[in-house]
This record gives sequence, C-alpha cells and structure tokens, in this order.
Amino acid sequence: MTGICTGRVAVVTGAGRGLGRAHALALAAEGARVVVNDLGVAADGAGASAGPARQVVEEIRARGGEAVAHTGDITTGEGAGSLIATALDSFGRLDSLVNNAGFLRDRMLVNLDEDDWDAVLRVHLTGHFLPLRHAAAHWRAEAKAGRTPDARVVNTSSGAGLLGSVGQGNYSAAKAGILGLTLVAAAELGRYGVQVNAIAPAARTRMTEQTFADSMAAPAEGEFDAMAPENVSPLVVWLSAADSARVTGRVFETEGGRITVMEGWRPGPTADKGARRTPVEAGGTARKLLAAAEPAWPVYGTH
Ligand SMILES: NC(=O)c1ccc[n+]([C@@H]2O[C@H](COP(=O)([O-])OP(=O)(O)OC[C@H]3O[C@@H](n4cnc5c(N)ncnc54)[C@H](O)[C@@H]3O)[C@@H](O)[C@H]2O)c1
Repeated sequence: MTGICTGRVAVVTGAGRGLGRAHALALAAEGARVVVNDLGVAADGAGASAGPARQVVEEIRARGGEAVAHTGDITTGEGAGSLIATALDSFGRLDSLVNNAGFLRDRMLVNLDEDDWDAVLRVHLTGHFLPLRHAAAHWRAEAKAGRTPDARVVNTSSGAGLLGSVGQGNYSAAKAGILGLTLVAAAELGRYGVQVNAIAPAARTRMTEQTFADSMAAPAEGEFDAMAPENVSPLVVWLSAADSARVTGRVFETEGGRITVMEGWRPGPTADKGARRTPVEAGGTARKLLAAAEPAWPVYGTH
C-alpha cells in the first residue's frame, strides 16, 4: 500500500481497540508498517489478553498491509523497551510513535482511592513517558550517528486534560500532564529531528459509549457518523507523516469532521507594583485583573 506514510514504521499503543485500532489501520492504509501494541485489558485496566492486538494485525494484513503485534504493558520499562525493540527488530527502523493506550477509573475526588489514582496516572502519564523515552533514546543515537531522523510523536490527551472533567480527577491530572510532557518533549527533541504534538479526541469507543450514550449514538443509515473513531485518525496519520514538517509542540482537538488548534496558557492581564504587596493589596490587584481577564472555560460536567 502506498500513501503519505510509505516507507515509515509506526508504533501505536493501545491499538487493539477503539481509537488506537483506527489509527493503526489508517497508518497501514497510508503505507506505514505498524507495530500494534495492546495489553488487552478490561475497561478498568484489569486482566490481559493478546487477542485484540493480534486481531488488528490480521485486519491490516488482510487489507494488504504490514504489521506485527506487541502485547506487552507500556507502563513498565520492560514493556516499553521491548515495544520499541519490536519495531527495530521487525522492520529495521522507527519513524512514528502514537501514544494512545489507557483506561478509566472514574470517581468523585472524595471517593477516589489511592489505587485508582495511581493506576490511571500510571497508564496515561507513565504510559506516555516510557515509550517516548525509549523511542527518543533511539532517535538521539541515530542523530548522533549522522542519520538524523524525520520522526514524529503523537500523544493523546483529552478535553478532561484541557478543561478538567467532574468525576475524573485522576484522568484529568494525567491528561493535563501529557500536555506538559508534549511541550517539553517538543522543545528537547527538535534537535534530534523529532516533532511531538498532542491530540484531544472524542469518539464512540468502549471508554465513552456508556458515559456519553446520547451524544455518542450511531446516526441513521447514510448520515455522517460523527462519533466514529475513524474520523480522528486522518489528523493522527498526518502528524505521523513527513508531510507535517515544522509542526511541533501543538495540541489539536479533533472529533467528527472538526479540527481545532487549542491555544494554551499564556499571560493575561498583569500588574507589577515593583515592591511586595500586603495580602489585602494582592487581593485588590487580583480582583482588578480578573475583572479584565477572559472568563475561565467551564469544567466538563458542570454545565
Ligand atoms: N474515546 C474518546 O472519546 C476519548 C476522548 C478523549 C481521550 N481519549 C483517549 O484516547 C485513547 C484511546 O481510548 P479509546 O477510547 O480508544 O479506549 P479503548 O478502551 O477502546 O482502547 C484503549 C486500549 O488501550 C489498551 N491498554 C490499556 N492499558 C494498556 C497498557 N498498559 N498497555 C498496552 N495497552 C493498554 C486497552 O487494552 C484498549 O484496547 C485513551 O488514551 C483515551 O484516554 C478517548
């Protein structure tokens, strides 16, 4: 198969289902050879099964593409290391890493126990960091050997990370952390030929079909299925391809036929007294500045 990823090798984490599966199929359809990673866990992260990753590999091969399965856990150094090694051993190179794996353990903060906090931070934030670190070490070695790569990383955040989401304190913190990691990785790795961007997708998958049952419903036959995961993949494929040259450190919301560049924290109204304030003075200044500032966007689940 030929397309905008011809000759490239891509790794997709959590590619056995949902968005990751759609990304893996779309990358292969554009000519990439794909490492399909999935631990095959339940919706809350329990258990493990090699089935989902293997099934997606079979689907890619049935459509004439090239793919191999990796069924390890990307939240461990061993799993992340062997994932990157699988790309190099199977296809001899690595060009694109799509970090996507994850699961939810939603609770209101007062009921959120430490295990559910740790598990969600680990799968999303550590699960982004470890494959990124192993891939970056490879790309830096390539650059130092005079073979500067044209590499791409696509991270997966969420509206919950951008705006916050009621009942998802652990997930919102992890997804906001991924945004910070994306900015640092883009700044640090540019010199090695690596671009790093993030998406905040929305689609109908097992992660969302119960929570957002109404807005995620499939449309009538013949109408555009705006919540199909396949709608998110074209931007991921472009961000994984050489075509996205000079785009790095950016965050895109994408859902259905819509793509939005998200514009992040930046200084708003400011005042400098040139000396220390009393707390009452600081409060007076803060209130004046807030009156001149853009209102905060509502947290998901509050409206
Ligand atoms: N679906 C949405 O609307 C939506 C919205 C915002 C963000 N996201 C994000 O998109 C990504 C994909 O979500 P989805 O909706 O496709 O969910 P999904 O449950 O359909 O797919 C996630 C996959 O990740 C795998 N996985 C989980 N832990 C893993 C691990 N340790 N190692 C390897 N694989 C592991 C699971 O087995 C599963 O197949 C997630 O990061 C999610 O937070 C999704």
